[in-house]
Amino acid sequence: MTISLHEFIQGLPKAELHLHIEGSLEPELMFALAQRNGVTLPYATVEEIRAAYNFTDLQSFLNLYYAGAAVLLTEEDFYDLTMAYIQRALADQVRHVELFFDPQTHTARGVSTEIVFAGIARALRQARQEHAFSGSMILCFLRHLSEEDALLTLQAALPLREQYADLWNGVGLDSAEVDNPPERFARVFAQARELGFHLVAHAGEEGPPAYIHSALDILQVERIDHGVRAEEDEALMQKLAKTQMPLTVCPLSNLKLCVVDDLSKHNLARMLRAGLCITINSDDPAYFGGYMNANFIASADALDLSRAELVQLAKNGFCASFAPAEQKQLWLEELDAFASSTH
Ligand code: ADE
Ligand code: ZN
Repeated sequence: MTISLHEFIQGLPKAELHLHIEGSLEPELMFALAQRNGVTLPYATVEEIRAAYNFTDLQSFLNLYYAGAAVLLTEEDFYDLTMAYIQRALADQVRHVELFFDPQTHTARGVSTEIVFAGIARALRQARQEHAFSGSMILCFLRHLSEEDALLTLQAALPLREQYADLWNGVGLDSAEVDNPPERFARVFAQARELGFHLVAHAGEEGPPAYIHSALDILQVERIDHGVRAEEDEALMQKLAKTQMPLTVCPLSNLKLCVVDDLSKHNLARMLRAGLCITINSDDPAYFGGYMNANFIASADALDLSRAELVQLAKNGFCASFAPAEQKQLWLEELDAFASSTH
């Protein structure tokens, strides 16, 4: 079957490994939840919200992202939020998501960890039942807060581990990166590792390559979220290629947060061609202008990615996931069948 490059991207089966569920809150849903919950937003219309999404750096985004999350109060809210993301993911041929969630953003407002888990989990389990879609949950610690707070957050969530054993399998580190290096969270990551959780961390988005080194060497993470500043350190690039350490790259996020000023200058194609395990992801799609397919399409157009490279990026997503080996094999077979039946 002959199809266009964009149709090829649309049809490719994909896995998403870097998605903050709170970052999938579209202005329409933000408005609806504000009304439902009697929360006052500092915006009169959905258009006003969208117009405010003009970011200069990570912090300028985080300010709005945390403010937007204030409409999330009940289990139903977290269910609706997650279901809305799943519908977008299904439309983009996403087969699997390992979603991030930030309990501290919610407990600080009096919303319990139980409510957050319950709403997200109900949506993920329903999607597993009704569609060929799987998901898991990665609890992220906010790095602008203390390690003590992160330790308390892990403690508060642990009683839920058994109830959500089919979903919650990892911990991560996000929020304001600069001046909050990974090593500040060495103890909580060591504890999570001893408990058998998978480990990931944001590093090298705005922070220096040294933060990628410490995420690897001190936190002992299994994937680096973003990691685009690795290119400034040749020895690190060699190590990432040799170990096939996955980087969950988010092109439209990097553009919106001014990590790059033009997608044609993004280093994901160079890093892929240098043999690194690069994946494409949407990060906070409601804020950055697109879900998975939009990220793939914008990257392919700006960087002249070939179909073989797009297949490699999609494969990397499945291979770098924490799903069971037999499941990965099935996805890779589906991907190969799609790629070989189209040109
Ligand atoms: N939280 C949500 N999106 C994030 C990003 N891109 N970097 C760090 N923390 C985040
Ligand atoms: Zn992120």
